Amino acid sequence: MLGKIRPVGSRVPAMDNSAAPTYAWEPGYQTVFMASGTAALSAAVAIARSRKPEVHQPEILMPAYGCPDLVAAVLAQGSTPVLVDLEPGLPWMDHQQFRQQINNNTVAAIGVGLLGIPERLSALSVICRDNDLLLIEDSAQCFPPVCATQPFADCAVLSFGRGKPINLMGGGALLVKSDLAGQPLDVVGACPSSRMNTGVLWRLKRRIVNLLLMRVPFCVLEKLPFLNIGETHFKPLDSVSRLDLPRPLLGAGIRALGRRSSIQALYSQQLAFAETMGWSLLGRRAGGEAMPILRYGLLAPTEGLRDRVARALNRRGIGASTFYRRSLPRIAGLEDVFAGVDCPRADEFAARLLTLPCHEDVTPADIALIASILRDQGSDPPVG
Ligand SMILES: Cc1ncc(COP(=O)(O)O)c(C=O)c1O
Repeated sequence: MLGKIRPVGSRVPAMDNSAAPTYAWEPGYQTVFMASGTAALSAAVAIARSRKPEVHQPEILMPAYGCPDLVAAVLAQGSTPVLVDLEPGLPWMDHQQFRQQINNNTVAAIGVGLLGIPERLSALSVICRDNDLLLIEDSAQCFPPVCATQPFADCAVLSFGRGKPINLMGGGALLVKSDLAGQPLDVVGACPSSRMNTGVLWRLKRRIVNLLLMRVPFCVLEKLPFLNIGETHFKPLDSVSRLDLPRPLLGAGIRALGRRSSIQALYSQQLAFAETMGWSLLGRRAGGEAMPILRYGLLAPTEGLRDRVARALNRRGIGASTFYRRSLPRIAGLEDVFAGVDCPRADEFAARLLTLPCHEDVTPADIALIASILRDQGSDPPVG
């Protein structure tokens, strides 16, 4: 096999000063560029804290399966992450448990759009409003954010890192509802700021990064053990800072994403047969077809089958991923933070999830190959 299609990650757009720097979420939300999605999330938590200074041990609700950066963002603000287990077989928080976890110390909730599938923010916004909690939409994996069309969240978070819908080689954004602006923006304004230089070095780095995303270079890169590509680690957040990201650069990223055709419908059509074999196509739950999604998710009937199909796909040059592999309490480095926390549905979700690439270099031939491998390997052989 020569080359491998990467599991995630779009190409970095060229700087384009003519790209209209207006964003769909404005003027309903104000945009503050931050050093990363994690920094943006942490700033949102700081806003939640500042709204309730009388709470000395603030707690933040979040899903029990997700990116460990969420935990880092909360801990960096001296707050406690409180996990909510998932609905069975779905990437959404269980509403009953969500309500049960609210107490006098709860100041905010983070609703995460996983893989490009938005959370049920309408329902969460009602619970948050009734309990005076700040609702934070974490849209690091979804673009556009729900708040661009439906202003349920008080704040929203975007990420422009590697492996995100818009890859600007770093940076993030915090979107603050304009009704709230004032004190929240003062909180964020107090963070130090640095300038993003898009000069010659940036342009060179962009070319190299885009080259390394291609099939043959990626295949080589993935084999380098010290890069630990695809592994999930907990990394504490050291500082929360803003970034002076040029607005036209994000405009260029949005335009490039808009020009790509979305292939989730083709996946849903070609893999529909797998549902009769006990697989569940999460990708069907992704929003409209207008924008491409980040990853196409499937839940296997068992962990064993998930691992077998993932190995078979990777052997044939398809970067299928088991994503975080574990629920948050079981990620290395977080055992003490979540000692004694039980989240059986998130554990099961983590054990069965398989994600397939959705970026601009996936072809219909790749999807046909994936379908044939899934047909051959996606069920246990009959006994006897
Ligand atoms: C859901 C989610 N939120 C936040 C982040 C953090 O974003 P960044 O990598 O820009 O710090 C990530 C990163 O993968 C993420 O997946």
